[in-house]
Amino acid sequence: MKLLLSPLKIGSITVHNRLVMPPMATFKSTDDRFTEQVLDYYKEKTDGAAIGLAIVEHCFVSPEGKAHPGQISIAEDGAIPGLKRLADIFHANGSKALVQISHAGAQASAAVTGLPVLGASSDVMNRQGDVPQEMTLDDIHRITACFASAALRAKEAGFEGIELHGAHGYMLSQFLSPLRNHRTDEYGGPVENRVRFHCDCIKAIREATGPDFVIAVRLGAADYPRGECEPAEGGLTEEDGVRAAVLLEQAGADLIDVSGGLFGTERAGYPGLAMFTDISAKIKKAVSIPVAVVGRITTSDQCEAILENGDADMVGAAAALLKDSDWAKKMVKEIEEG
Ligand SMILES: Cc1cc2nc3c(=O)[nH]c(=O)nc-3n(C[C@H](O)[C@H](O)[C@H](O)COP(=O)(O)O)c2cc1C
Repeated sequence: MKLLLSPLKIGSITVHNRLVMPPMATFKSTDDRFTEQVLDYYKEKTDGAAIGLAIVEHCFVSPEGKAHPGQISIAEDGAIPGLKRLADIFHANGSKALVQISHAGAQASAAVTGLPVLGASSDVMNRQGDVPQEMTLDDIHRITACFASAALRAKEAGFEGIELHGAHGYMLSQFLSPLRNHRTDEYGGPVENRVRFHCDCIKAIREATGPDFVIAVRLGAADYPRGECEPAEGGLTEEDGVRAAVLLEQAGADLIDVSGGLFGTERAGYPGLAMFTDISAKIKKAVSIPVAVVGRITTSDQCEAILENGDADMVGAAAALLKDSDWAKKMVKEIEEG
């Protein structure tokens, strides 16, 4: 069928094939900026026009939202020249490109940022031993505006869009998970409230960037605990993950990029290789925008099967591409020859 090589419309743009380079932190920035080394890395990974959509690693939208040393900033206008060089690299290599924008929330550390740690709720200490401050409504509004300003910087640099990081336990993932969100205001309680912050960000970004800018959401679609296949008791359920995707589409998202929730990118014990395709398939049935999926995808047969089954519209491989910069080119060649 060669579905992998077929184009796909995402919002206002068309990607030339269904392969995604998922966001992968390089941990290599200095002074919060892209280094030559990071630019070369992206050039190498997208060389050969085999990647339809490249997504830049998570960049922090506000200083207290920095997740770790070596992370890149999109929190001020000084980021734009580096981003522009990066956008030019992707375009020269034939990829459309998004920047993943993120706030680490309660996963940030005062030792790294020198600032108070913010979270959906204040009752769970993070791994570094910080107790987060429960965000006030003013904090939520301020950070919503930071996401919108970050998206505008990506647009000014020439990117087709952004991806909101709503997975792996970072701030938006904390709001979505009942294990971290114990709020009693309109941002806590039922899933409609727990996804409100995401939807506020989407609307603010749309307002700032206009109708043609692509807004993707990396959605931690359920809270699969480390070492386990089924969602954690009391955590984000698959049903609520699907409902969240529907609400994100209604708020104006153009693409849902499915990954794991609060506990990260793994889903141990999932039978088979493509570990999030059961949940991406449920999301795809519930929304009309495209759905991307990642998670232990390594072969061209797997990619093609996922697309043929209708489990997702796009497939991404992080570890495989990290290990082998020719991975995407090999996939394309195998499909062309197959
Ligand atoms: C080195 C590395 C860095 C990563 N950084 C990010 C990131 O910045 N943002 C994100 O959403 N996911 C990040 N991930 C997760 C990947 O995008 C992907 O979801 C995960 O590795 C599962 O896909 P895979 O099985 O193909 O590796 C990272 C993964 C790796 C290996």
